[in-house]
Amino acid sequence: MIIVPGSASPKLASRIAEGLGCGLIRPELARFPDGETYARIPGDLRGEHAVIVQSTCHPQNENLIELFLLLDAAKGLGARRVTAAVPYFGYARQDRRFKPGEAMSAHAMCRLMGSAGADDMLTVDIHEEEIVRGSPIPAKSLTAAPLLGRHIARLGLKDALILGADEGALKLARDVAAELGADHSCLRKRRLTPTMVVTEPECPDVAGRDVVIVDDIISTGGTMIEAATVLKERGAEGIYAFCIHPVFADEVEGKILAAGVREVIATDTIEHRASAVSVAPLFVEALREGGP
Ligand code: R5P
Repeated sequence: MIIVPGSASPKLASRIAEGLGCGLIRPELARFPDGETYARIPGDLRGEHAVIVQSTCHPQNENLIELFLLLDAAKGLGARRVTAAVPYFGYARQDRRFKPGEAMSAHAMCRLMGSAGADDMLTVDIHEEEIVRGSPIPAKSLTAAPLLGRHIARLGLKDALILGADEGALKLARDVAAELGADHSCLRKRRLTPTMVVTEPECPDVAGRDVVIVDDIISTGGTMIEAATVLKERGAEGIYAFCIHPVFADEVEGKILAAGVREVIATDTIEHRASAVSVAPLFVEALREGGP
């Protein structure tokens, strides 16, 4: 197996190669004078299983084009099998036609990866499982919940409550809590506009407890800030904000800390200074077991 890192996921790709004890070929990536992307994999992939590791986070469109070109390059070099390892799958939130005439972006991305050369695809905690189930190429979404649980265990919290930031995060909260043997629940949120959310006032009893808020994505930070504000008002002791994918549309980390959160912790599906938990072991295990 050979790992090929895209420019969005260099550290994670190295960790995966290290975990697998396999080779890694850094691609040559450049820009043509008119802005188009140049990609070349300088090595021999004949008969190999090539794994292109590239999150399609910001700048999404550039990272996607780079991924498509690297998939094509790997196929062109005669790789026996090409896996798109996409730790953060951008465009996943537009997973249906909310209004007539809209693109189903998530499904379009799966199709494009397949036609660019991917035989299969691995991702992490995709926004909707339905996307991988409907993918035209074999695809699997791995879950980082046990890794988050193990990280939280090391924080030495007392009587911790794992709280989904909204109802969509309840399953994540349950899976993280199961790893710890902790209680779990979730808040309820209403989205007023794409960037404005309100957390409903009902909330479990958190007075004097350490609370870990979990969510799949932190983007504008609105959901976490609202959640932390409600928890502080209700007397929570320590508040921690955990997410799988630190999309961080703005410089949100400081704003979340200012809302009373002790620590913002994320995984390296998107490489950021908050990425304290690596998802490399998930890819290592999945690839060792044969992939999707
Ligand atoms: C929404 O369905 C997701 O699970 C997250 O709650 C959301 O993407 C977080 O966005 P923001 O940080 O902008 O509130």
